[in-house]
Amino acid sequence: MAAFNNLFNLSFLLSLLSSSNLSLLPGNHGEKVGVFPPTCNRIECPSYDVIHTGNGFEIRRYNSTMWISTSPIDDISLVGATRTAFLRLFGYIQGNNSNKQKIEMTAPVITEVKPSDGPFCASSFVVSFYVPKENQPNPPSAKGLHVQKWGPTYVAVRQFGGFVNDDQVGEEAASLYASVAGTIWSDAIDKSYSGENSTEYIVAQYNSPFEFRNRVNEIWLTFDMEDGFAI
Ligand SMILES: *[C@@H]1O[C@H](CO)[C@@H](O)[C@H](O)[C@H]1NC(C)=O
Ligand SMILES: *[C@@H]1O[C@H](CO)[C@@H](O)[C@H](O)[C@H]1NC(C)=O
Ligand SMILES: *[C@@H]1O[C@H](CO)[C@@H](O)[C@H](O)[C@H]1NC(C)=O
Repeated sequence: MAAFNNLFNLSFLLSLLSSSNLSLLPGNHGEKVGVFPPTCNRIECPSYDVIHTGNGFEIRRYNSTMWISTSPIDDISLVGATRTAFLRLFGYIQGNNSNKQKIEMTAPVITEVKPSDGPFCASSFVVSFYVPKENQPNPPSAKGLHVQKWGPTYVAVRQFGGFVNDDQVGEEAASLYASVAGTIWSDAIDKSYSGENSTEYIVAQYNSPFEFRNRVNEIWLTFDMEDGFAI
């Protein structure tokens, strides 16, 4: 556990050292912000630029990305819905698709969460794999799956370690909302999360269920921003 924390602290330090604007540095709380997910050194992840490192959050800009996604799954458990969807998507990359084509595994696996209104209702989850560059722009089709094309996207990110559990994700999302409130990003984020969408968020997971060290998970709030916006 000590080694685990030291690793994060080291990355944390490095992220401090590489940041150019001292007044915007995160507080000295050891938040897991700015860790490059180790999985992305081994398998393909969508590339991004870090635009800003804040107190408990990071703002990234992804260029256009493509995702292969399930239909909305109604479930009371994000963990359960993600497991079901993972098997379907894993089958897809193993060749259960219109071209019987194998596709490389990527990271992260993202789950778009639309929480339910009542305490006992099923929430809605859309689970996606990132489509490798090699298979863009026309990945094979498959029944029950669809392709999502995202234009350039800004994302507010909060990282957390360990195994994702249902009780924790809502709290992590709330912490992310709280940490961006009142910053230069809050107007743009509020605009994307108003009305019916005010409680949505994405959970990104980078590790297989069998890895027990250096696990990286993230909450994402995607939002629109004028391109070329500079701080
Ligand atoms: C995103 O695209 C811009 C413009 O083409 C490029 O300068 C930048 O390096 C790209 N960033 C990443 C992370 O690929
Ligand atoms: C392949 O995908 C279909 C859905 O299109 C599913 O019904 C079937 O069970 C899958 N087959 C395997 C071997 O996973
Ligand atoms: C909520 O999200 C959906 C799907 O992304 C979008 O079509 C709709 O316009 C959004 N509603 C608001 C009020 O932003």
